[in-house]
Amino acid sequence: MTRRTNLALAAVLAVATATGVAALLVGEGRAAVVVWAHGAAGFALLALVRPKSRIAVRGVARRGRTAAPGILLGLLVAASVALGLAHAAGTGAFGPLTALGWHIGLALAAVPVAAAHVWSRPPRTRAGDLTRGAFLRAAAVAAVGVAAKLAFERTLGASRAATGSLRRAAPVPTAWLDDTTPRAVATRFTAERLGALPQTAVVCALDCTSGWYSTNRWSGVALVDLLPRLPPGTRSVEVRSATGYARRFGASDLDGIVLATHMDGVPLLPEHGAPARLVAPGRRGYWWVKWVTDIAPSELPAWAQPPFPLT
Ligand code: HEM
Repeated sequence: MTRRTNLALAAVLAVATATGVAALLVGEGRAAVVVWAHGAAGFALLALVRPKSRIAVRGVARRGRTAAPGILLGLLVAASVALGLAHAAGTGAFGPLTALGWHIGLALAAVPVAAAHVWSRPPRTRAGDLTRGAFLRAAAVAAVGVAAKLAFERTLGASRAATGSLRRAAPVPTAWLDDTTPRAVATRFTAERLGALPQTAVVCALDCTSGWYSTNRWSGVALVDLLPRLPPGTRSVEVRSATGYARRFGASDLDGIVLATHMDGVPLLPEHGAPARLVAPGRRGYWWVKWVTDIAPSELPAWAQPPFPLT
């Protein structure tokens, strides 16, 4: 029983972590299934709380101080789940971070602790683990997750996008990690130069991975108008910011992307990316490069970058 509970817990946590990370990587269109599965995996933990707390109490009594990493892991997971639920119930900021930001930070901090915990007492799988009974028990854990998720959405769950993000009237001025708003951006993409080119407008949601989205009207120049002919052999286009931040787009994926100078009819504020920022409908906020200084065609494939920006 102990062994099976531990195996089930490790599996549920692995699914929650994998779907959580995937939720930030998939575009808005495909997010619904991943985000829903993530919530259900989180709620499936409920089915394991009782059996695991018995195991934990016995372990602490037996091991004393050496049980500390296991206790830390329990606390990190519990705090992460509490903040995930607070976000899903509509809580925005919690001090310096959003509730979702705390949730993700605590969950990622739990990963090395969980790895060490499992490493020090690897759960042994046995031939009998793949029996019909084991399958039914796993299905019961999953069913608890789905039922609890449905009940949560009917009661406490706030209205949010398929990505899980909460609505805001205007984008929150954020920058990547420690980047700060540059005041005088030296760029060839000035408002005057871009204003002289054919203009495009698009209404779409900027959906930030810190857990909010805002739908606005963005106008500027479509990338396909800005770069009508790419040099032969171009496989991607790298869009760079004055801060050094950059994202790479596939050369055939530029349709619909706009280099915007205006939001809701008003010139961009510095904190929103002035003089020009990228608007990439359907992609999460980290694709929407601000303070654009360069758009460089390249022979590298679009995947030649970390899937999620790390610096
Ligand atoms: C220990 C692993 C994790 C557990 C147990 C967990 C659990 C949860 C729970 C219970 C919720 C709220 C329930 C719901 O939305 O229906 C939630 C929300 C969320 N989590 Fe996690 N999570 C984990 C790791 C992560 C990671 C690593 C990420 C991202 C890198 C992440 C991203 C999210 C997002 C985007 C939401 C909001 C979904 C929504 O509002 O529907 N989670 N998580």
